[in-house]
Formats: sequence, C-alpha cells, structure tokens
Amino acid sequence: MNIDSAALRTQIENAGQGHLLAHLDRLAGEQRQKLEAQLARLDLGLVGRLAALLGKPAGGAHVRLEPPETFPLERDANAERRAAEARKAGAELLSSGRVAYLLVAGGQASRLGYDGPKGCFPVGPVSGRPLFDMHARRLLAAKRRHGARPLWYVMTSAANDATTRAFFEEHSHFGLAPDDVFFFSQEMLPALDNKGRILLAAPDALFLAPNGHGGVLDGMARSGALAHARERGVETLSYFQVDNPLARPADPLFLGLHHLAAASMSSKVVDKRAPGEKVGVLGRIDGQMGCIEYSDLSPEEREARGPDGKLRFRAGNIAVHAIELAFVDELTRGGLQLPYHLAAKKMRALDDSGRDVEIAGTKFETFVFDALARSKESVVLEVDRALEFSPVKNATGEDSPATTRADLCKLFSGWVRDAGLPLPPAGADGLVPVEVDPVLAEDAAEFRAATPIAPETSGPGHLYAARG
Ligand code: UD1
Repeated sequence: MNIDSAALRTQIENAGQGHLLAHLDRLAGEQRQKLEAQLARLDLGLVGRLAALLGKPAGGAHVRLEPPETFPLERDANAERRAAEARKAGAELLSSGRVAYLLVAGGQASRLGYDGPKGCFPVGPVSGRPLFDMHARRLLAAKRRHGARPLWYVMTSAANDATTRAFFEEHSHFGLAPDDVFFFSQEMLPALDNKGRILLAAPDALFLAPNGHGGVLDGMARSGALAHARERGVETLSYFQVDNPLARPADPLFLGLHHLAAASMSSKVVDKRAPGEKVGVLGRIDGQMGCIEYSDLSPEEREARGPDGKLRFRAGNIAVHAIELAFVDELTRGGLQLPYHLAAKKMRALDDSGRDVEIAGTKFETFVFDALARSKESVVLEVDRALEFSPVKNATGEDSPATTRADLCKLFSGWVRDAGLPLPPAGADGLVPVEVDPVLAEDAAEFRAATPIAPETSGPGHLYAARG
C-alpha cells in the first residue's frame, strides 16, 4: 500500500487522534510500516461518530415492550394447514437453490476459554465432530433432501480467518465443494479510551476488536459475497451461529413462512427456560420488531407472567434468521446502517508513554437482530428447544460442552428408543452415548423411516450415520 505519510498525519491530527503520531514516531522499519498501514485503513469519520457515543446513556433503553406474535409450536388445524403450505413453499425455495447459508463465526470464544476458532471445538458426543463439521452435515442433509448444491458463506474475523480456512482445507471442506464455501472476514473496530482516543494493544498495533455479528451485513457487501450470491441466483440467506450444533438452517417450514409473509428478516425462538436464562428476547420494542438482550430487560419484565402462568417475555432468541439478499443490500448501501452497542471494559493497552497498563476503554459492536426493526414484515417461529438449540458458550455450567453433550445424547437416544432399537449402556456421566448424523435424520420420524439400521460403534458409543 502506498501511503502519503504527510497527508495521513494531518488527517489523524485533525481527527483529534494526534497521540497516535507520538506512538508512531517511536517506531522504525517494519514496525513503523505496520502501524502506519493500520492507521491508513482507519475510517476516521466512523471513529469520530463512535467517540461521540461515549458518555451518552447506554443503548437498549425502551419505553414499551410487547411480546411478538409467533407462529406457535403447538398448532391448531388452521395453523397446521398454513404450516403444510409453508413447508411446500420452503422446499421449493431450497430445491431451486434460492437459499444460501450464512454462518457467523467471527467471535473470539473467550468465554469458552478455547484457543482457536469455536467452530473447531469437538461436540459430536460419539463422533467427536467439531461444530463446523456438524453444520456442514446439515447442509449435506439439505442437498440430499432438496437436491440443490449448498452454498455456504462463512464469516470469520481477523483473529481466526487463517486458522478457519486451514481447518476447512485440512478436513476437505467436510465433503462440500470448495467452490461452494465462501469465507469473508468481518471488519474490526478500534477500542477507545474514555476521551475517545484510539487505544494501542502493542507498540505497532491498534487495539482492534470485531465489529459484532451485525458486521455480517457489510462484510457480505464489501467482500463481494453479496454479488456472488446474487449471481448464483440466491434470494434468501439462512443465518445461524457457530455455537449451536442443533441449528437447522435448511428448515422448509421456517423458510416457507418467511417467504409467504414476504418478510425481509425473520427469526426462530424457543420458550425461555427461566427468567434468568441468558438469551435475548424477541418482541415489539416501542412498536418495532427487535431483540432485547437479557441484560437490558428490567427485573419486572424478566419476571412478568401472563394469565397462563408462562413468562410474558419468553420468545428466546436462538439467533437463526432468514434474511433477504435485497434487504442486506438496502442496509449496507452507503455504510452499515445499524446502531452501535458499547461495551465498557478494562483492557490491557499502552499509555501515552508506551507502557502496557490497564485502561478503562470501550469496544463497539453491532447486532444483526437490530436489522429486524427495518423489516416491514417479520415472522417469529417458535421451535422445539430439544431439537434446535443447545449452544456451547461457557467452559462450565449452563450452555457448556457438558450441557450440549447431555442435550445431544438425550435427543438421539430418544429417537433410537422410539424406533425400537437397542441402546448402549449409560456411561459414567449417566448419559447414553448415541449420535445420529443429520444427513441420516433430523427428527424422530425421519430416523424411524431409516430403520432397520445398525450403528457404527466407537468405543462404548453408537453412531448412526448415513450410508454412502
Ligand atoms: C447471542 C445473542 C442472544 C441470543 C444468543 C443465542 C447477542 C448480543 N446476543 O448471545 O440474543 O439469545 O446468542 O445463543 O448476539 N460473532 C461474530 N462476530 C462478532 C461477535 C459475535 O461472528 O463480532 C458470532 C459468534 O461467533 C457467535 C455469535 O456471533 O457465533 C454470538 O455471539 P456471542 O457474543 O457469543 O453472543 P451471546 O452473548 O452468546
């Protein structure tokens, strides 16, 4: 990159970030070039807008919250008729290749304490398959059912892009055609101190953090993924998170309901387990569809119950969305049009004299679900938690590898029992080690239809896999 150093210095000075020049002047050679290149890539206009948000009341404040209208899990005859129609429409979308899959995997897995992209974390209770492989198998299942070649967009971030790509290479793209997997990196944003000054993580490196999963929208646009999808005839993106091995991105019911409602963005939800469960809730926020983070619900809202005794705000966000390609285009033309959320944190950064110290700073993130407010129509589909949601987030306790293993074993052993097949003995952890490959079956009925079938055994575990 050819950098006009004098012009860059003036821009940085004018943007009120002159302290960066003092850091730059302490460096020589490659280190200096590296920092200069980072400075040249900064969007100083955006940094100014982010700095202006500091000290303002925190986002998430709302006046009125109402539960969303949902397409329920327990359906009367009328709803069942609509569901059948939707499944048909969704299956048509899938078989005509108008749906592509969009995975967000740019997060840093810090809560899990795993040193690597979260998608490489093993979760198959018998196979030991990593999350990426579990997701790939869902797409292979879609191919088997609906015929079309699955097209997969995978968002990484600067910190895990190279390792993610290498992992896919090493595993032969988990059986998908390499041309059908499109990686792109989300943008990074600088962290600021309380005066709005950009922080440095090292003498030759700005303190940069991923711009939140909302960055998937402009990441698609900037990387050319959006144009690529359009050329391949895609109309709808099926969005899901890397941390949930039960995500079903090729769900004809969901895609069909979204399509028939002419929605721009739709969501799947599960009943919140308890007031304290750390999921966002979908709702009408001051009249507009959106998602409120658990930390932004008031204690009254968290505990509120309806006449049926159920939580009033229970539409738990499982972060599975259907998003129209045209909507992504609309939201990213002229820059990403999503609000920024602030996370105040103590961070290791350099002080003015270049010493590594702890500084109170702020990171900025966008959330994809904030786009719901811009979607004129939006479907909220209630799904069965046992079948579709068991995220791996923490090292221990709730939403950890242990709870996911328990959920998967319970689900699969239920199918095997239901089909009248024998189960292996429970292990020391009390769990029956059984796994069903999604290419073979994604629910109990499909599994039953696949019988008679013998499992592959691996140690004490039984793995039911698709043949061929
Ligand atoms: C998220 C949702 C919450 C939902 C829950 C369901 C937010 C703010 N909240 O919570 O409403 O109920 O999932 O599991 O998202 N990611 C990126 N880039 C980033 C940040 C995150 O790709 O810059 C990806 C991560 O890899 C992960 C996903 O987004 O797959 C979720 O991010 P995370 O920060 O773990 O959100 P949660 O707090 O778990």
